[in-house]
Amino acid sequence: MAAATKRQSRTQRKARGGARGGFETLKSEEIFTEAKDLMPGGVSSPVRAFKSVGGNPVVFDRVKGAYAWDVDGNQYVDYVGTWGPAIIGHADDKVLKALSTQMEKGTSFGAPCALENELAKMVIDAVPSVEMVRFTNSGTEACMGMLRLVRAFTKRDVVVKFEGCYHGHGDAFLVQAGSGVATLGLPDSPGVPKGATTSTLCAEYNNLESVEELLKNNEVAAVILEPVVGNSGFIPPTKEFLVGLRELTTKYGALLVFDEVMTGFRIAYGGAQEHFGVTPDVTTMGKVIGGGLPVGAYGGRKDIMEMVAPAGPMYQAGTLSGNPLAMTAGIETLKRLKEPGSYEYLDKITGKLINGILDAAKEHGHQVCGGHISGMFGFFFCEGPVTCFADATKSDTEKFAKWHRMMLQKGIYLAPSQYEAGFTSLAHTEEDIDRTIAAAKEVFAAL
Ligand SMILES: Cc1ncc(COP(=O)(O)O)c(C=O)c1O
Repeated sequence: MAAATKRQSRTQRKARGGARGGFETLKSEEIFTEAKDLMPGGVSSPVRAFKSVGGNPVVFDRVKGAYAWDVDGNQYVDYVGTWGPAIIGHADDKVLKALSTQMEKGTSFGAPCALENELAKMVIDAVPSVEMVRFTNSGTEACMGMLRLVRAFTKRDVVVKFEGCYHGHGDAFLVQAGSGVATLGLPDSPGVPKGATTSTLCAEYNNLESVEELLKNNEVAAVILEPVVGNSGFIPPTKEFLVGLRELTTKYGALLVFDEVMTGFRIAYGGAQEHFGVTPDVTTMGKVIGGGLPVGAYGGRKDIMEMVAPAGPMYQAGTLSGNPLAMTAGIETLKRLKEPGSYEYLDKITGKLINGILDAAKEHGHQVCGGHISGMFGFFFCEGPVTCFADATKSDTEKFAKWHRMMLQKGIYLAPSQYEAGFTSLAHTEEDIDRTIAAAKEVFAAL
């Protein structure tokens, strides 16, 4: 940035900061301006750049419990929680202690380690569909491995996904669904060859007919979904939809895959499959099971998982997969989550939060709808109900962007997009929720 522009921007920020009673983001602005020269868009993952809400992101300095502090010293109640993993609160003391003990023994082995068994047993015990598990380094990797696995196992190529569901950035998942009930996949990003997505079909969420149409007319390897959508905002399934998918996939010889990268250990200890009582054949996981370190996993029935190399012929590997640090953070996080009352607490505070936000909106004449399951929530700036991606696009994203910035200035850090879910943690207190609702009331009054 030219020096004159930088000075001007500083003056503007200071003036606004003064008017807001001390909210300054000068250091954030400087760091982010430099970052844009160093990394595409200034970030390591797109949504962090605040593109869909406008303005620059704040640059974090540290996190603890329910809070984040930016480099200018502003404190936020954090409802992003590093996009889900921080379910017991950021930088939990027990997790940090276990990590530092493990660090003395080394950070990566590239050889079998007992901690993998320990986390694998915890996952297998908790998640109904999982009899065997393969660890990866991210949710994307888990979904890519899962895709190869379902194709290898069924000897079929075609997969069905849902409009608005995200399964990482593997080529085959980057499909624009279009507005039809069932649309043949077209690449959603330049660089994805057409051939990579021709076997990816899209159906409409919560619409069983759209799925059956595809199953009837294609040899489908698997139907893959977020069992509660978090990647087009928070969209819960109906129980009938999940039960119907189980029946349809069985009828047509396809596998059912729940991508629980976001919902796993989040909406219940056993994930969405425990919450809804519907068991898929294969499950992908990530986020929470790494307790803030890079982890993913896919697992399922033993006869399916034994296809994976070296037990079987389907190849998938990873230099850092199952590394002892990530395993340690995951184990300690799951131990804490397993303590009695964890999910009841998450449900209680998150219900209070979302009801408070919805009531505040209503009181001031704004149309906002939303909901939560346990510690996962979301809301849309439209009348609702929102049951699929097409409904979500009716949201007033411009109004949301203003609301988002005003909440940020009041010390509330929410996901910077209308199409993202929010997360609470065991570290969020009733006072944090009250503070957030009070801020929401003021912002809706001023919006
Ligand atoms: C449901 C789902 N699947 C897959 C992914 C990809 O995970 P990662 O970002 O760890 O690659 C995400 C990430 O948000 C997700 O929410």
